[in-house]
Amino acid sequence: MNIEELNKKFKDSSAEDVLEYFLKEYGDLAALSSSFGAEDQVLTHMMLELDKKAHIFTLDTGRLHPETYSVMDATNLKYGTKVKVFFPQTEDVQKLYETQGINGFYESIENRKTCCFIRKIEPLKRALKPLKVWITGLRADQSITRESLDIIEFDEANDVIKVNPLLLWSEKEVWNYIKENRVPYNKLHDQGFPSIGCAPCTRPVKAGEDIRSGRWWWENPEHKECGLHIK
Ligand code: ADX
Ligand code: SF4
Repeated sequence: MNIEELNKKFKDSSAEDVLEYFLKEYGDLAALSSSFGAEDQVLTHMMLELDKKAHIFTLDTGRLHPETYSVMDATNLKYGTKVKVFFPQTEDVQKLYETQGINGFYESIENRKTCCFIRKIEPLKRALKPLKVWITGLRADQSITRESLDIIEFDEANDVIKVNPLLLWSEKEVWNYIKENRVPYNKLHDQGFPSIGCAPCTRPVKAGEDIRSGRWWWENPEHKECGLHIK
């Protein structure tokens, strides 16, 4: 089935049905990338219910909040799993520090993108290399840059089918699922952080503010992607 046919097939399907299909069809060649945010925790719960051995990986940029490591630990413990971790290349991080200092990302978009490339994109590419299916927690109403996504896409840059099972879920649906299923979640969500990335690049938002406005808050909305999800 091509991407268009897959989107038609799953147009009205539940997230579980979408996951079940790709886990069955692709097995070890399919994996969820998790930042341990609310959406990824929903998908982790669903996937491990469907298949105890389902693959999940995370990109540890080295700049994550302590609360993120706590939910990583809690997740491994609760589900009897071990989320695979991809770290950035040591030499690249050392060079990054030498050229832009430890917090150089505040100084320019270029510096910020270089840091995101070294700490996230390169490890992501390494993680995706052996895979055929990349499952993500993207939702359409998270940002203007995500409104036009499809549930199933082909990511040419990484040569994988990209599956976004929660694309049409609302934030409320995510939280209802977490509460109903007692899914472990990042405690920063209770402190005004709807979207969580690296600690120095994420801050809480006020009620009613855009959910991604706390990410790279010093940049304009159209720049607010680290490059993980560029078509
Ligand atoms: S980001 O591009 O701005 O960082 P966001 O935090 O909204 O992304 O998360 C969207 C999806 O990208 C997540 O559901 C997850 O699939 C993936 N993702 C983001 N950050 C990471 C990470 N550190 N490790 C693994 N996957 C991630
Ligand atoms: Fe670097 Fe910030 Fe990007 Fe994390 S989010 S990789 S600290 S620029």
